[in-house]
Amino acid sequence: MASQARPDLPHSAPAHGVRHAAIIMDGNGRWAKKRLMPRIAGHRAGVEAVRRVARAAREMGLECLTLYAFSSENWKRPASEIADLMGLLRHFIQADLDEFHANGVRLRIIGNYRALEPSLVDMIEKAMARTAGNSGPIIAIALNYGAQDEMVRATQQLAQRVAAGEMTADEIDIDKIEAALDTADLPPLDLLIRTSGEQRLSNFMLWQAAYAELYFTDMLWPDFDAKALAQALDAFKLRDRRFGGL
Ligand code: IPE
Ligand code: IPE
Ligand code: MG
Repeated sequence: MASQARPDLPHSAPAHGVRHAAIIMDGNGRWAKKRLMPRIAGHRAGVEAVRRVARAAREMGLECLTLYAFSSENWKRPASEIADLMGLLRHFIQADLDEFHANGVRLRIIGNYRALEPSLVDMIEKAMARTAGNSGPIIAIALNYGAQDEMVRATQQLAQRVAAGEMTADEIDIDKIEAALDTADLPPLDLLIRTSGEQRLSNFMLWQAAYAELYFTDMLWPDFDAKALAQALDAFKLRDRRFGGL
């Protein structure tokens, strides 16, 4: 037994150097279209990719994997697709929470999830509470997330504290803004991956991406797997991060 690794901890600090990776999981619809299938089939295959990649991230020793699942702009989609996506999310939490918990994973949700349907909010809060005491990696799901909305909510929070006399406007600094963001207790973002060939951020983690390395792949999200994640981590290893220095 002594040689067996604890399931919630990597063997040693990972060589790739990535603590926190985030993925804009794009291309489910195009994946389905190529197969003459309805878009929901692409989203279902996308959930399978989430399972694979969450497992791989854990095995590769990431401290945090953040996945963009539903943006604050995705409400523009047809109601039937929104209902399909929320249904898949509900099912995912029900089906996968035990595995996450057994592996010491902490499930986090970022974004304005409190504006979702009350029964879903309840389910999310129970799932987060159940895994909050774990000591393994964080899987953060961005739901009803928009970076601009996140910054608006953070600004409101700080303004309220100033109005209440808890601090002065001059005391607002980078640390205070970071502490008011949804990602307050997550490690700094190292690597931001987007699938499907689009090269834009689509309102994802704009503040956190300030010095993240960006990695774009043409692969559609339902095709993404452990090997694709390993390739992104390999690419990261070759980057020279200077943070404005030399
Ligand atoms: C990503 O796939 C999933 C979500 C945005 C929820 P898309 O649904 O955007 O797939 P494409 O971009 O239409 O191929
Ligand atoms: C970004 O993908 C949002 C998610 C992956 C959840 P979109 O498909 O919504 O992005 P745009 O509309 O192409 O920018
Ligand atoms: Mg898309």
